[in-house]
Amino acid sequence: MRKSLAVALALGLWTDSLVWARQPVRAAQAMVVAQEPIAAEVGLATLKAGGNAVDAAVAVATALAVTYPFAGNLGGGGFMLVRMNDGRQAFFDFREKAPAAAGPNMYLDKDGKPTRDSVVGWRASGVPGTLRGLELAHRKFGQQKWADLLAPAVKLAREGFPVSYSLSQSLKSAGRVRANAPDGSVLTAGGILTREADSKRIFLRDGRFYEPGEIFRQLELATLLKRVQERGVNEFYEGELARHFAREMAAHGGLITYEDLKNYQAVERKPLEGTFGDYTLITAPPPSTGGLGLLQMVNILEGTGYEKAGLGSAAATHYVAEAMRRYYADRGEFLGDADFVKVPLTSLISKAYARERRASIDPAKATPSSVIKQGRPTPGESNETTHFSIVDAAGNAVALTYTLNGGYGSGVTLPGLGFLLNNEMDDFTVKPGSPNMFGLIEGEANAIRPGKRPNSSMTPTVVLLKGQLHLVLGAPGGSRIPTGVLQVFLNVAVHKLNIQDAIDQPRFHHQWQPDKLYLERGFSPDTIELLRAKGHPVEPNTFGVARVEAIQVETIDGKRWLAGGQDGRGDGKVAGY
Ligand code: DON
Repeated sequence: MRKSLAVALALGLWTDSLVWARQPVRAAQAMVVAQEPIAAEVGLATLKAGGNAVDAAVAVATALAVTYPFAGNLGGGGFMLVRMNDGRQAFFDFREKAPAAAGPNMYLDKDGKPTRDSVVGWRASGVPGTLRGLELAHRKFGQQKWADLLAPAVKLAREGFPVSYSLSQSLKSAGRVRANAPDGSVLTAGGILTREADSKRIFLRDGRFYEPGEIFRQLELATLLKRVQERGVNEFYEGELARHFAREMAAHGGLITYEDLKNYQAVERKPLEGTFGDYTLITAPPPSTGGLGLLQMVNILEGTGYEKAGLGSAAATHYVAEAMRRYYADRGEFLGDADFVKVPLTSLISKAYARERRASIDPAKATPSSVIKQGRPTPGESNETTHFSIVDAAGNAVALTYTLNGGYGSGVTLPGLGFLLNNEMDDFTVKPGSPNMFGLIEGEANAIRPGKRPNSSMTPTVVLLKGQLHLVLGAPGGSRIPTGVLQVFLNVAVHKLNIQDAIDQPRFHHQWQPDKLYLERGFSPDTIELLRAKGHPVEPNTFGVARVEAIQVETIDGKRWLAGGQDGRGDGKVAGY
């Protein structure tokens, strides 16, 4: 027996996962992991009151719209993946849609240069989908009454809640700090939250920033939530709230009309499925490109033995980065809303296609992105964010990622309604070859069309091990979401780390263009030198590679445990019982 193991056993420190690693929070029955503690507790209370995972998701998502205005929302959209304990699966797509008046060149000036109206202000928003998505999922799987599930959000908005240190910092930074585009051009002269009178009035108090411990009340939002609680979601999309929404839009040069709201539909889609050894990955289909990326990357890595070089080694990091690079090259070319363009989906996630892509990886040398072109999938087939994970006592699971896109979205709060609008139009290809907010370069398949949904990186995922629920995970982080989710999955499935340790490890990211390997802090200087020697232009990644919130189902001494991993890159919470 190794000496360290013997010492660990003697000290009683042995667990099923690695000794000396940070341990996850464990609970026997049910669990919520969310990026804001008050909303996580709301979810836990719903589960304790007998709600199932979908009920808890409705309660958490609406509470986050109050307590986490950075990304929690009614004015944005996202995806919810459900896996019930009887094996039923559903993917609810409530991604925003381009308004009917939108078109391909709407964000270009007369010289063909992007105006950046896709990022800030009244013209940046797609038609929001969040409430329709929650309603659809609740109608199919919910057990508790809609009105009861919205009650915590109404109360939090009306009575307020104490501002945390991180909310105070976040509001200050969104109020003060100038936002720049990836090319360095200035997007907002001041902060995103101080451009518009109503945002400034609500998110600052009398022109002064909220300090930690002060109570933050949102009375207009409380009134709106109360109406949706009592009258249902139609009130938001077809009722007086929708008319008010459309009037304000028209008065400020925005594009979303009453008809756009009325016509908005959330849709249920079939999740994508793939395998990696004994693991089955159930994940997001288009208009997310993240699930497809996750499957493409695990397919490329499967069976290569790349991991033998060791977690965090230059050789393993290099190999995974090369898989990432190849997925992003395909993404730019082929991916768009499959309701509008033909996406060669089956081929892109096939093992045969992965073999072809893998063949071009040199284990010793980086392939410059300039020579990596998209692959040749077989044609002709049909066609600043937050994530939470929930498992209930019956073993039903929800992974939900939703967003306003940038932190605090477009910066526009609808007067009289009290919620922020998204800037999701920037996820479309504003101009082929021109980078979006996340530096992604995409093509025609993702061009703006009325009623179309923009490409997304959001990757809510459920993983089964030998057919049993094993992981529920996902993340915010823009283009870094699929690579962040990939690394946490690999750390569990390949390196056998516990879920907290898997999340804690330093991560890296490559997205083909720009041809840079972004490394989080934690890679040693000699590892970085080895990566440079392989030809990687290494860049420090100052803002982290996604924030993964996950639950792992463990069996310890024959008993089922839920293990919650919370990402220290943010300050969320694991709440379980
Ligand atoms: O759908 C997407 O890919 C982006 N709108 C997500 C934005 C995001 O994750 C921002 N958070 N850091």
